[in-house]
Amino acid sequence: MPIPDSFIDDLISRTDITELVSGYVRLTKRSGSNIFGLCPFHSEKTPSFSVNNDKQIYYCFGCGKGGSSINFVMEIENLAFRDAVEFLAKRAGMSLPEETSEDGLAGKRSRMLELTREAARHFHEMLLAPIGEETRRYLAQRGISKAIVTKFGLGAAPNAWRLLFEAMAKKGYSKQDLIDAGLVRRGQKEGGVYEYDMFRNRLMFPVIDVRGNVIGFSGRILDDGEPKYLNSPDTIVFNKSRNLFALNLAKKTKSGMLILAEGNIDVVALHQAGFDCAVASLGTSLTKDQARLMSRYTSNTVLAYDSDDAGRKAALRAIPILENTGMSVKVVDFGDSKDPDEYMRQHSAGAFSVLLERSDNHIEYRLMMIRNKSDLASDDGRLSYLDAATALLAELESKPEREIYAARVARIADVSPESVESEVAKKARALKARQKRDFESQAARPTAAIQPEDKSLRYKNEYSAAAEEGVIRCLMRDPELLRVTVEMGFDKDEFTSPFLAKVYQMLKERITEGRDSKEALILSNLEQGEASQLTIILQKPEALQRSAATVREYIEKIRMESFKTSTPDEDMLIEIKRQRSRNLKRGS
Ligand code: CTP
Ligand code: MN
Repeated sequence: MPIPDSFIDDLISRTDITELVSGYVRLTKRSGSNIFGLCPFHSEKTPSFSVNNDKQIYYCFGCGKGGSSINFVMEIENLAFRDAVEFLAKRAGMSLPEETSEDGLAGKRSRMLELTREAARHFHEMLLAPIGEETRRYLAQRGISKAIVTKFGLGAAPNAWRLLFEAMAKKGYSKQDLIDAGLVRRGQKEGGVYEYDMFRNRLMFPVIDVRGNVIGFSGRILDDGEPKYLNSPDTIVFNKSRNLFALNLAKKTKSGMLILAEGNIDVVALHQAGFDCAVASLGTSLTKDQARLMSRYTSNTVLAYDSDDAGRKAALRAIPILENTGMSVKVVDFGDSKDPDEYMRQHSAGAFSVLLERSDNHIEYRLMMIRNKSDLASDDGRLSYLDAATALLAELESKPEREIYAARVARIADVSPESVESEVAKKARALKARQKRDFESQAARPTAAIQPEDKSLRYKNEYSAAAEEGVIRCLMRDPELLRVTVEMGFDKDEFTSPFLAKVYQMLKERITEGRDSKEALILSNLEQGEASQLTIILQKPEALQRSAATVREYIEKIRMESFKTSTPDEDMLIEIKRQRSRNLKRGS
């Protein structure tokens, strides 16, 4: 059942976007009717994310994301439209129009969450039952205690084909439910279809979100089979790249940091040793969404990835992603031990604590990596070390920081600190100039419309689209102007962009029905890509004065473009031929 427009209208008017956004972004600089802060959707050091309280919209001049309160919640909380509406409604103390059937997304989600919870309970029971013997032995061998098993709700998927399938069927879940949850697969057997458990012969880790819902599973193989970890596929409640294992527990830590490890076993071992702030990404290399999620709970992250090549590479990749959310990042190096789990076994939890305290900040870590790659005995090696190290230091914003590290680099490469500093300064200037150039070339586009980020919205004819955008902009600023389009017999099919046609249609309906057509309402009815694009359009300064004449000019421009690109029709061709033959005769 779709949510009625009137409800959305009401919701928007009862939500104050500035207050909403302030819960996520520190809005600091005021400029006109906009307040600015650091964009939560892309990395930046100077604020280009704006909230306009009059229009009740947000817009980032850096990354182009924009929209209404609803779009904002969808984007930042990773929610679907309906869930975002629910989220805001709860906040505004409104109750959603009654859901009549279980068919709505909310109904499907809550059914799915029940199933995943039941499955977690089943796996846990299997672990304690006689059939869980092998998994219990594995746990004992890895030194994982009974208390931790309970705390994490660990479970067993024994080496059998249909244990979970049958247990859940008994509870009334259908084959399709189980397949949709990624717990069961359908295969062929002796010519017929056959359903079987996805997780077998694995130690099961339920993945629990920060609200306490069991949303999926990671299963670690008990022997040395492949893959080592198997994770639930994406479902309507689970998305690997937007969640972290154990964040439900780690978010309560008092330590003031989060430790990011690679394996679930490492996380469990860390918690057992008292490091209750450990989490792991779910087999993906760290994503922006995961980093953003972490940054909601802490501003300090310590990377504790495996010390093999893959782990080091993954750490280097993760550093900028974490840093870009504004967190400070440190990296622990386990030296000869392969991971946190092994380190604590070979040394002790206390030793790990010391390691944490001494862990390098990421600049030192990255400098060390560059150093390890360079042969400092040769001149060429020293030069390439200097080149890479100064490029890294050029990215630092703080001058004292640059000087401290420059001195260290100079010592290592055995050159004067001054020469390193001047090289760093030179590279920093070049970097600034490059950034400025990029920014300006973006700002100075011709009159043609700027192509939307979202590929599905691409304009076929940029010149027509620029005029089409103009029509939309005028109508949104002054609904009265709709009368001009009516007078000119302008039709939505004359838009070359289906997206703009859709917006026009929406505006036209609202205006003729005498309903509110203000920005925030229109934006809320669009997909995220569309909402961002429309916000960009609305932010563009009007080239022409806003008036009936302007709308007329835009429509004429659209018709002119359409004429230029259309293939001449039959009659026209005949007419042209006739004309030509007449001219020829006259000439002869
Ligand atoms: N991984 C995964 N899914 C998870 C967790 C980890 O696919 N839910 C992947 C990681 O990306 C990494 C590897 O599995 O590549 C982690 O391996 P490792 O840290 O070696 O796992 P452990 O369980 O700690 O293994 P070991 O017993 O060797 O310590
Ligand atoms: Mn490991």
